[in-house]
Amino acid sequence: MSTTNSSAASAGAGRLGVAIVGLGGAVASTAVAGVALLRANQMKTTGLPLADFPAELTAQLAGYDDLVFGGWDLCPDDLAAAARHHRVLEPAQLAAAEAELSALRPWPAVGNVRFCRNVTGQHLLPVESHAAAVEAIRADLVRFREEQSLERVVVINLASTEAAPVLTQDLFLTPAAFEAAVQANDERIPPAMLYAYAAILEDIPYVNFTPSCAADAPALVRLAEARGVPVAGKDGKTGQTFLKTVLAPALRARNLHVDGWFSTNILGNRDGQALDNPESLASKLTTKGSVLDQILGYKVDSHVVHIHYYKPRGDNKEAWDNIDVEGFLGQKMQIKVNFLCRDSILAAPLVLELARLADLAKRRGEGGVMHALGGFFKSPMVTQAGTAPEHAFERQQAMLMAWLAAGVAETMPAAGPVRGAKTAVLASFSPATPTA
Ligand SMILES: NC(=O)c1ccc[n+]([C@@H]2O[C@H](COP(=O)([O-])OP(=O)(O)OC[C@H]3O[C@@H](n4cnc5c(N)ncnc54)[C@H](O)[C@@H]3O)[C@@H](O)[C@H]2O)c1
Repeated sequence: MSTTNSSAASAGAGRLGVAIVGLGGAVASTAVAGVALLRANQMKTTGLPLADFPAELTAQLAGYDDLVFGGWDLCPDDLAAAARHHRVLEPAQLAAAEAELSALRPWPAVGNVRFCRNVTGQHLLPVESHAAAVEAIRADLVRFREEQSLERVVVINLASTEAAPVLTQDLFLTPAAFEAAVQANDERIPPAMLYAYAAILEDIPYVNFTPSCAADAPALVRLAEARGVPVAGKDGKTGQTFLKTVLAPALRARNLHVDGWFSTNILGNRDGQALDNPESLASKLTTKGSVLDQILGYKVDSHVVHIHYYKPRGDNKEAWDNIDVEGFLGQKMQIKVNFLCRDSILAAPLVLELARLADLAKRRGEGGVMHALGGFFKSPMVTQAGTAPEHAFERQQAMLMAWLAAGVAETMPAAGPVRGAKTAVLASFSPATPTA
């Protein structure tokens, strides 16, 4: 049964600031409303993955009640107006969260129409250079911490998907080259990277839930490692790709050969509108397309992924998969999956968990890529560009369990009355099979 983590009992107690890029979006406003409703005891924790984990593994995380929200958006509307626009919440839920939502207004943002053509807005920071933008974002983070009396802060990117820069270009390879490019106002730097850079310079954990390029630039991975700042991404694994990474390991285990996998989606929210631009769409198709071959161990000749903007559906995305498989005696079979999902209802709880996990990683003294969080993403970040991440969901889940258990074990004395407990905790949550 789901229960709320008591903030009083949590080793991560204290107000945790969650600064969101794209605060007025469908996912962000749903996440904020969810915490307001949890606080008011108006909903259960169903859908929050860590709420059902063994309590000993999650005791060190900040409580859901401890999360305090702020952030930037190109649209100035307060979050009640934003939530009304997105139409994710039921009217009664909106009414119950209205007071908290209407009190929250996004800060002016850093945008660049070159990287995101279909979502523009005039709620912009009055800055004329990348360097000034980075300084302004850093100042926002400092002000957020002070004004809200926060113990700690994390930054989460939930902004519209941007066109991808070419990450092998020199400016993205080393921290020094990136800093020089910021100072030179290099037009190849997208807004998502400026936010990520500012967070890392403030020693604030950074999570990229979008397909945009941000902390995954090698320059920023190296900087995060050097400063001991946890970073994670990218592109939340919520619906179709989540099911794909659950099904594909099962097909592999039965040695059913995947001849082809055809995936298509329709969605009608603002995210869909952003993806109606071919350059933004290309970023999304890259993250969605990369999962199968690593899991199956061979290249699937016909892995096709389509995403279509279809306004009447709003946030109620529908995904279809047709999987052509070959079995014993070369006989052909088909599997059909039809997921009628709720885009933001699946995404928002993952965002809340990522905020708590990124904060815990920082408190545990970890920096650089958080591999243990790979299961939350379609395209998990890697430390070395070009290496393949783990995609199979079950193994990713085991990695997360093992990471949480290792943290619990570290806090236990090596000897004394609890001797043996440390080993037991680690053993009971270790992955059964080694991960790639
Ligand atoms: N299931 C899911 O919903 C899901 C899954 C994986 C990834 N994502 C990604 O999460 C992101 C958010 O999804 P959504 O449905 O909330 O989209 P949305 O369009 O409702 O929200 C995005 C918000 O970002 C704002 N924005 C755009 N550029 C900005 C900038 N430079 N600075 C600050 N704000 C900016 C927009 O004004 C908008 O309010 C998208 O990139 C989407 O691809 C969503």
